[in-house]
Amino acid sequence: MVDADLLGSYFVSAYPPFSQWSTEELPAYRSALAAPRAGRATPFGLYVHVPFCVERCQYCYYLAVDGAPQDLVASYLDAVLAEADLYARSPALSERRVGFAYFGGGTPSLLTADQIESLFTGLRQRCDWSEIGEISFECAPRTATQKRLDALHAAGVNRLSMGVQQLDDHVLEQNGRVHRVEDVERAWKRIRDTGFDTVNLDLMVGMHGETETSFFDSLERIMEMAPDSVTLYQLEIPLNTPLSREVRGGQVDQLASWDTKHDRLAAAFERLESNGYTVRSGYTAVRDPSRHGFQYQDAQYNGADLAGLGVASFSYLDGVHHQNLATVPGYLQAHREGQLPLGRAHRLSREEQLVREMILQLKLGSVDLTRLERKFGLVPEEAFAEPLRQLETEGWLQVADRKVELTRAGLVRVDGLLPRFYPQRHQDVRYS
Ligand SMILES: C[S@@+](CC[C@H](N)C(=O)[O-])C[C@H]1O[C@@H](n2cnc3c(N)ncnc32)[C@H](O)[C@@H]1O
Ligand code: SF4
Repeated sequence: MVDADLLGSYFVSAYPPFSQWSTEELPAYRSALAAPRAGRATPFGLYVHVPFCVERCQYCYYLAVDGAPQDLVASYLDAVLAEADLYARSPALSERRVGFAYFGGGTPSLLTADQIESLFTGLRQRCDWSEIGEISFECAPRTATQKRLDALHAAGVNRLSMGVQQLDDHVLEQNGRVHRVEDVERAWKRIRDTGFDTVNLDLMVGMHGETETSFFDSLERIMEMAPDSVTLYQLEIPLNTPLSREVRGGQVDQLASWDTKHDRLAAAFERLESNGYTVRSGYTAVRDPSRHGFQYQDAQYNGADLAGLGVASFSYLDGVHHQNLATVPGYLQAHREGQLPLGRAHRLSREEQLVREMILQLKLGSVDLTRLERKFGLVPEEAFAEPLRQLETEGWLQVADRKVELTRAGLVRVDGLLPRFYPQRHQDVRYS
């Protein structure tokens, strides 16, 4: 029997929870776009969602369409560029320089080399990339062909992230991954030889069929490869995933408990540290923190503005959250009508902005309370007196000299602790 507490969302990517965003609040997002914000000091970046995958993995909750029918991909990329045009003409963004960009999926590396080239060229023509820093791109092992890697390198991608998940064919197959260990080995060699500034490999902790041995052997092999960055995600099983349906149908009888996943992550961080890596968040360890940052994540956790292009993408502009329409047909229809594909939004109060930055920065392991007070004019020790007291008593964090530091035990379960910082009205709401 699989414990019921293994089902549902775990990773917190937004506050207030998505269920609190609504179509009624779309006017707030329209107003944010209509207000000129030239010369703003707030960093600004782009997210581009590429919603195509060869096949759906058992645990996946991302918006992705199986296969990549070429006519659909072509219409989709046209729509993304048209959306970029609409943003680039808005008073809020017309004079803003793009500081960072992230291409996520789905599997963005399913795009052909030509599509990659025209997508990047189109975006550069529409937005000011003259001072761009990090350009991050997600890829999957089988699609990492030399032609595509060369196109990505030539387009300026300087942080490539590949989803490995585990180096065990049995576990990969059981979870519906289309790649096998030999695909990873082949892709790794090409990626290393292509010469990206930063390469990150994603692993998962607690996959269906994973054993102590499959997980730690995978980690050892990853450390031999010596990527610049290793990200470890603990398996979550949101209710819309094929795996959750199997669990509820009684077809899966064993999965790692949350305690096991937390313990494995803590042990993995220790192994990585003894191999010269530095833990920089509740998920990621890097070889050289001064070179292998993650601007996309850090900027967002510190309140950057973000324009999300593509189906179901998220934006954040001047304290307003927004998510695009979440189906491909709906997204394409908005494009045919010459409209932004507006889905749902939420304007955050000052208190909500404080909670948002507090919880996002906790994911990095420490929070500077003086900085938050300066930014929001609210005293975090007062606003969060109860959760800070509770979590300190339970051994998950320490507060000293106006800094909150998570303990390692707190860091490996950080997403499970964050809802304690929510005000009462958001305590028991659905996540999405
Ligand atoms: C959008 S995927 C990245 C690229 C590509 N689609 C892939 O899966 O390899 C981002 C990462 O999220 C992680 N992930 C996906 N589903 C997850 C789940 N249910 N629980 C934990 N991590 C998950 C995986 O490590 C994956 O590499
Ligand atoms: S490859 Fe990534 S985005 Fe695609 S189905 Fe698998 S986990 Fe989801």
